[in-house]
Amino acid sequence: MATYSCYKGKTVLVTGASSGIGATAAEYFAAQGAKVALGGRNEERLNQIADRCRKAGAEKVFIAVCDVSTRQACLDMAAKVLNDFNGVLDVLVNNAGVFGVGNTAQLTEEEVNRVLDVNLKAAMWITQACVEALAKSSLKAIVNVSSSASKMASSDSITYFVSKAALDKFTQCAAMDLISKGIRVNAVNPAGVETPLFSTVGLDVNKIKAFCEKDYPMGRMGTTEDIAAAILFLASDQAQFIMGQTIVLCGGKTVGSRTITRQN
Ligand SMILES: NC(=O)c1ccc[n+]([C@@H]2O[C@H](COP(=O)([O-])OP(=O)(O)OC[C@H]3O[C@@H](n4cnc5c(N)ncnc54)[C@H](OP(=O)(O)O)[C@@H]3O)[C@@H](O)[C@H]2O)c1
Repeated sequence: MATYSCYKGKTVLVTGASSGIGATAAEYFAAQGAKVALGGRNEERLNQIADRCRKAGAEKVFIAVCDVSTRQACLDMAAKVLNDFNGVLDVLVNNAGVFGVGNTAQLTEEEVNRVLDVNLKAAMWITQACVEALAKSSLKAIVNVSSSASKMASSDSITYFVSKAALDKFTQCAAMDLISKGIRVNAVNPAGVETPLFSTVGLDVNKIKAFCEKDYPMGRMGTTEDIAAAILFLASDQAQFIMGQTIVLCGGKTVGSRTITRQN
């Protein structure tokens, strides 16, 4: 893990911190001596991650139990976190997300709303709620956790791919808007990372892992550490000239396929 002195004593909100990428990112910020607020619905898992963050070196840990599916819930959660941080937020990581499966014929209003509410709208509402506090801070950084899905297309996970493409566009538009307040907005766009994300919709992560090992040029799935490292870099004082970018972390997946060669 890289060391960043800029995070010592700074305040960081990570949504979706009860699991996967968000949990590791929170632990990485904690290890730099930050004060971290952990968002998520599962209080038990949030408490476990909070312990990990304290052990890693967090100056303070705040748990924000919240379902971010509605605007009001997002605003209330942000208000509680900001109250605990005395109105100053240095870094916001909009990471909460859900996977979705289904082709055009299978689209339902309920499923489209479920995915867009969390993957797109929650990032919009929480950003809106945190702008004033971020503008008062020293780091002034937002990192959205998008996906390499935003750069591609799928016949069977339509709503998920659409949600991440829209999140990329929100990242760029918010970056253009908020740079007037000194706030840098960027996104990381991972390809397959081994987390519980897929099993929540009944997919077998081992099958996805085997596919990635065969197909990705780097021959492996991403790790939560790969993604957390990029989040910390983008939010840090080492990335001060980077705004509005959607940075693909994909082990080469969007560059080419290992399985399409004369040998295969
Ligand atoms: N894993 C991958 O291959 C991959 C690839 C590209 C992008 N991503 C993105 O990375 C982000 C994190 O995913 P992950 O892979 O780490 O999956 P994960 O382990 O399933 O984590 C998802 C997180 O989002 C939270 N969340 C989901 N719905 C929520 C809701 N309604 N309200 C509040 N929190 C909610 C979950 O918390 P609770 O369960 O406690 O509610 C959990 O902490 C997502 O945005 C995902 O799209 C993942």
